[in-house]
Amino acid sequence: MKKLVIGCDHAAPELKAIVRDHLIARGFDVTDVGTHTTESCNYPDYAHALCKKIQSGECELGILICGTGIGMSMAANKHKGIRAACCSDTFSARLTRLHNDANVLCFGARVVGMGLALDLVDAFVDAPFEGGKHQKRVDMITAIENGERAD
Ligand code: RB5
Repeated sequence: MKKLVIGCDHAAPELKAIVRDHLIARGFDVTDVGTHTTESCNYPDYAHALCKKIQSGECELGILICGTGIGMSMAANKHKGIRAACCSDTFSARLTRLHNDANVLCFGARVVGMGLALDLVDAFVDAPFEGGKHQKRVDMITAIENGERAD
């Protein structure tokens, strides 16, 4: 069973709960790192809490929701080994797993509605990384992250 982790800022506790419960109903093991209220908070705190769960191997995939999904994706992508994709269409949500081996999906509660949010997460969690030529390109991203590019 895939272990998932989900987090949000004050823009999305309600949508996060809906997405979390949907994934639990589908049989996934879901860790919720908060936030749980609409009290103003800082999205990098929740991106960081979620990314640590993936970096440690405790969880395989993560979902981050803020107002736009952009701040969460920027913060998440500053973490080693994290490939976060901000998506608001299901084609991109699926392809970022198939081709980019993305391990975090981000989207905006002020951008997508509940129906699309659930379709995005289903497209993301159900798609396997294809590997092959895509592995080489993901390795190139990792090399940039590790400062291994000499050019
Ligand atoms: C919070 O108001 C908002 O800035 C945040 O949720 C997010 O959209 C940032 O990218």
